[in-house]
Amino acid sequence: MKKYFLFFLVLIITVLSTISCNNDENTIVVDSIEITPKPKSIQLKEGYFLLSSKTSIQASEEKINPLINHFKDQLNELYKLSLNTHKSNNTIQLTINDSLNLNEEGYELNITQNNITVTGKSLKGVFYGLQSLLQLLPVNPSIEGKNPVSYKITNAQITDEPKFGWRGLMLDVSRHFYSADFIKKHLNILSMFKINKFHWHLTDDQGWRMEIKSYPKLTEIGSKRKADNGSIYKGFYTQEEIKEVVAYAKERFIDVIPEFDIPGHMMAALAAYPELACTAKLYEVRTLWGVETNILCAGNESTYTFIEQIIDEMTSLFPYEYYHMGGDETPKDKWKVCAKCQSKIKSESLKDTHELQSYLMAYAEKILNNHNKKMIGWDEILEGGITPTTNIMSWQGEEGGIKAANAGHDVIMTPSKHLYLNFYQGDLNVEPMAFGGYVPLKKVYDYNPVPKEIEKNKQKHILGAQANVWTEYVTEDNMLEYLFYPRAIALAETLWSEGKNYDDFLDRLTDLYPKLDLLDLNYHIPLAEGPETKVIKFIDSITIPLKTTHPVKVVYTTDSTDPNTNSKVYEHPLTFKKNTVLKVASVLPHGKMSLINEFNIIKTTYKEPLDTLKTGKGLKIKVAKGFFQNIEDLKSGVFRDSGTIENIKDSNKTFYWGHEIDSSNFKAVIIEGFVEIPKKGSYTFSGLQDKVWISDSLIIDNGKSIRKHPKQGMIALEKGLHKLKILYLNNIRKGWATDWNSVALLFRAHDDDTTYYKIKPNMLYH
Ligand code: ACM
Ligand code: ZN
Repeated sequence: MKKYFLFFLVLIITVLSTISCNNDENTIVVDSIEITPKPKSIQLKEGYFLLSSKTSIQASEEKINPLINHFKDQLNELYKLSLNTHKSNNTIQLTINDSLNLNEEGYELNITQNNITVTGKSLKGVFYGLQSLLQLLPVNPSIEGKNPVSYKITNAQITDEPKFGWRGLMLDVSRHFYSADFIKKHLNILSMFKINKFHWHLTDDQGWRMEIKSYPKLTEIGSKRKADNGSIYKGFYTQEEIKEVVAYAKERFIDVIPEFDIPGHMMAALAAYPELACTAKLYEVRTLWGVETNILCAGNESTYTFIEQIIDEMTSLFPYEYYHMGGDETPKDKWKVCAKCQSKIKSESLKDTHELQSYLMAYAEKILNNHNKKMIGWDEILEGGITPTTNIMSWQGEEGGIKAANAGHDVIMTPSKHLYLNFYQGDLNVEPMAFGGYVPLKKVYDYNPVPKEIEKNKQKHILGAQANVWTEYVTEDNMLEYLFYPRAIALAETLWSEGKNYDDFLDRLTDLYPKLDLLDLNYHIPLAEGPETKVIKFIDSITIPLKTTHPVKVVYTTDSTDPNTNSKVYEHPLTFKKNTVLKVASVLPHGKMSLINEFNIIKTTYKEPLDTLKTGKGLKIKVAKGFFQNIEDLKSGVFRDSGTIENIKDSNKTFYWGHEIDSSNFKAVIIEGFVEIPKKGSYTFSGLQDKVWISDSLIIDNGKSIRKHPKQGMIALEKGLHKLKILYLNNIRKGWATDWNSVALLFRAHDDDTTYYKIKPNMLYH
């Protein structure tokens, strides 16, 4: 018996020690409080709370229960951790206390030895407190394993509330369509960072995306457009899908602001109902980007009925009090020559077409007010005057917002220079095609929605800010994610946290990256950047410095292989004396790498000048009329001599962003002659042309790109005359018309010269 007793004792001790060992192995200690957006105050306390599958979660009121379910789902999905709701002495307790000295979204998160209490000023506060708690848990590398994991979380007292009540993101689903499921994925993630407004840009020239039962052709016809290759691009949300998205957002305390953009950006609707235009004719859903001159007729009674009925239907889908009625980019060309519009101006004693737009917007606002809704419009609507109750979204800059706030209107700031996430975050020759502009992470982070020009007592009119994503070039879901993250997270902190600190944010962002992986996000990683020119020419040697938009490790190879996490680490500028392929990339601390930036570094010599005498001024131009998609479509012999041009930009005279394109202009041009180089140097040229040769070397090749952003090329030239040849296609590709390009050729004489100069007529000969 004694023998057996000893045997059992040893067995029990072994089992117990295995359990405790397992527990230790699977207990992750959380010693610091890392929450983004950064909370208002964090006080660390002695001791730890053990969060494990034995922890229970309980609410003081029934209405909190949906939040319990949501939090349990999050823990389960992200951390494979299940909580229970039985009473225990290891509890997360949720309560609401409306007497907290915090604003409506504020909360207190108190972590003690036995309990975690989340006390919200309202239900919203409880939700945000739980999101903060969730963020405390680091990603467990062994999460794939089956063993339960527990977290020892340092005791702490956190008090938090947002700085701004409007923390928004706008998505354009007209230019490219994103499924309801994809939108839900991002509403879920954005809510984890306490974003609370989703502005859904549902209607535009290139597609009507919201089912309206009283106007069925809006989606039957207006949701489809012809793609470049003749295929049909389409998509819309049924009313059921819209309700689902709105309900899903509401569960995450995100208000959905629909945008029904009037009276411009209406081509998709005019294609469905041409009688709504100043001239009833056949319209097609616009395939070009840019600004459309055909708009709703403001003198036509059916336009007013249209607006009223659509708003009526929308109110059954969108419960939030704010509606966006657009009003941006509305050319008045058609109204100026429309008898009905002119007669409306007279009958309503309006001054001009700007006031006519104001009249139309005021009508829409009246309909909204009848449904107890408030109207937002883009800042252009200030031009003709606005009603005292109109709210403004300031996108062109901050000026509109400043003017409106000082006049007592509520304002949401969305200045493109800081908050358009369709703008680039790094070298545009490496990043996926984007709209233009440059808005790196820091630009978003540094944004202050309350400019100093706003009078003290009017600052309350700045409700907050919002980042917008227009999707002309965002053809894939993962490209949209690349644009959203981490900039949307920087925005969230900018609008939530009182004391911002970029370095501290970057530290927390580093810890967030593995979580973004867990959320299956294709987020942007700062590129390793060098010269924008990808083919670099040098004479004796060249030294190339590399940089990143924010500090991150850079690795490189010089043997044509792609860099990996074990490649050489960049420490100081690299010097090259022979032909080399340099490939660089950045690496995040957890090993994920950026896109690769590749340079072809080539030893060269100065090109001798021609001994040709200058004869005539300007360049010879040959033109082939027709729609040429690619250079390969060109056959020699189709070109006809068309004399000379004085300036390179004269090869394309129709530059006028956005407006109608005269397809009779479509052509290919070849320009030839000589350029006079002022002094010996290593020149970089920059241009939007399809191909540019200097001294018989192809130095710019836009290949099959859309030719929206200039490309660069280098060549070393002696002083004097050199051959110049340019090939330029005038056409439309992927919604971009090269008619909108200003096709000057630019140059600079040194790598360290940051300014490009135009090649002027006094440098051109033939
Ligand atoms: C806008 O970017 N057109 C509001
Ligand atoms: Zn009209």
